[in-house]
Amino acid sequence: MRRAFIAGNWKLNKTISESVEFVNAVKASVAGATGVDIGIGAQFAALKSLADACKGTNIKIGAQDCYWEESGAFTGEVAPAMLIDAGCSFVIIGHSERRQFFGETNETVNRKIKAALAAGLEVIMCCGEMLEERERGVTNKVVKDHIVNGLAGLTVEQMKKVTVAYEPVWAIGTGKTATPAQAQEVHAFIRGLLKEIFGEATAQSVRIQYGGSVKPDNVKELMAQPDVDGGLVGGASLKPDSFEKLVNFGK
Ligand code: PGA
Repeated sequence: MRRAFIAGNWKLNKTISESVEFVNAVKASVAGATGVDIGIGAQFAALKSLADACKGTNIKIGAQDCYWEESGAFTGEVAPAMLIDAGCSFVIIGHSERRQFFGETNETVNRKIKAALAAGLEVIMCCGEMLEERERGVTNKVVKDHIVNGLAGLTVEQMKKVTVAYEPVWAIGTGKTATPAQAQEVHAFIRGLLKEIFGEATAQSVRIQYGGSVKPDNVKELMAQPDVDGGLVGGASLKPDSFEKLVNFGK
């Protein structure tokens, strides 16, 4: 049985005080959400304060990117161990916005995942096709490319700390959610790929989140799909009441 994992991806939103205020607003009702792992991916500058505010709660804090070197002359970068130092337990790697706007490639994704795992972070690795790729009928090809190359060289042991997030780019921030059937189809395809690469046991235990306009009113039917194990949620994770409903999807 895979435990559900709902993570907010706040992207470039919320100041330090807004972040802490949010956690103080939701922590009581989120405490009642059992059987689900809960996370928030926040901007770098707020991580330490946010992690401090989450101490003693069931909310884990993560970053939205990291670099693969430990230290040195890499202006502007943040190392995985520094994220742990700030109180993070996970990091989101390879989000489509980083691939589209910041030159992230499968190769950099792979290096970052390995560095993050080596430092002791858990990883959410994102994959997913653009609208034009879906229309051209190459969704599986694109997703396979992200999975095979992004996870290249990882061991079965390391995969215990990896969650995959399938996020069709055309569904992100557009209000246009993939139908539960569309999500399930790609999730099952991804699980099949994981089986080919890592074997049956790993394929059955790795969690695959769906991302792309997940909201309180569609989270239940998405989560009901056999291969959908959680959500990576942008817009709908920014408001306390909506976040509370998302993590309490099972009630
Ligand atoms: P969205 O973003 O929920 O606002 O569509 C999801 C994501 O980009 O992770």
